[in-house]
Amino acid sequence: MAGNGDFAAKYGPWAFVAGASEGMGEAYAREAASRGLHVVLAARREERLDRVARAIRSDFGVETRPLVLDLAAEDLLEQVRGATQDLEMGLLVYNAASVSVGRFLDRELADHIRSIDVNCRGPVVLSHHFGGLMAKRGRGGIVVMTSGAAFSGCGFLASYSASKAFDLNLGESLWAELKPRGVDVLALIGGATNTPHTLSTGIDFAALGAPVMEAEDVVREAFDQLGEEPNWIPGEHNRQSMGQLQAAPRRLVIEGMTGTNQKLYAFED
Ligand SMILES: NC(=O)c1ccc[n+]([C@@H]2O[C@H](COP(=O)([O-])OP(=O)(O)OC[C@H]3O[C@@H](n4cnc5c(N)ncnc54)[C@H](OP(=O)(O)O)[C@@H]3O)[C@@H](O)[C@H]2O)c1
Repeated sequence: MAGNGDFAAKYGPWAFVAGASEGMGEAYAREAASRGLHVVLAARREERLDRVARAIRSDFGVETRPLVLDLAAEDLLEQVRGATQDLEMGLLVYNAASVSVGRFLDRELADHIRSIDVNCRGPVVLSHHFGGLMAKRGRGGIVVMTSGAAFSGCGFLASYSASKAFDLNLGESLWAELKPRGVDVLALIGGATNTPHTLSTGIDFAALGAPVMEAEDVVREAFDQLGEEPNWIPGEHNRQSMGQLQAAPRRLVIEGMTGTNQKLYAFED
């Protein structure tokens, strides 16, 4: 675990947070700034992004650069390269995700494709771009957000679950490849976390019957663990319950996760 000075020396001077206009992404941007990094904040909503960027500048005295961007854009790489080529990016957090909740066939195909673009193509593009620059400099860090939904298939979240499995394996693979080149990578396996985006999906956290984390606690654990293990589950209760999931027969887990989603989103049989 790096102290604040060490953190900035290892992962500074700039951080790029993909999906930073609220909730978990905003918390990542604030935590990076509190550890002494300047921050590029990328998301689609300009007004929110500007507000968060201004607050971070005034609260932590670092520089910020808001970048209005759809991470599903075909020209994602060109947009990001153009907006950041004058900055030395020592940290990438790929936080944003597109979630298509519901029965697979009831959702438009475009929603599933969008999840693949934002959740899979996006982290590959940005990890390849910034990871390459970091590896050349011999230092840096990448955090890829994934989820407990990555451990098995689960009904009502099919493309999201599949995309998060992709993120988990991407992060772990890059941990193995980039560590010898001085770049730390962490796949952060989030459990239920209180964010406006997740609440907007219609989730009923009360039906979970388990503790729900706050974004600030999740991101603190993520940065504390960067450079240690290939993945990390924030929250002791999540580590216990996800440990049990990994040990259980897969069919039971898939059925259990599907049943839980049905309750969480109040889908009828
Ligand atoms: N919250 C949970 O319970 C939970 C549990 C497990 C894992 N996770 C993971 O944690 C991460 C954060 O999830 P969250 O639901 O809590 O969301 P969040 O970070 O609170 O909000 C999502 C952020 O991503 C941005 N974003 C979404 N789509 C985008 C796009 N196409 N282009 C650019 N920016 C985009 C949103 O901004 P704009 O709308 O302004 O673009 C917003 O700033 C995700 O990777 C998710 O899989 C969350």
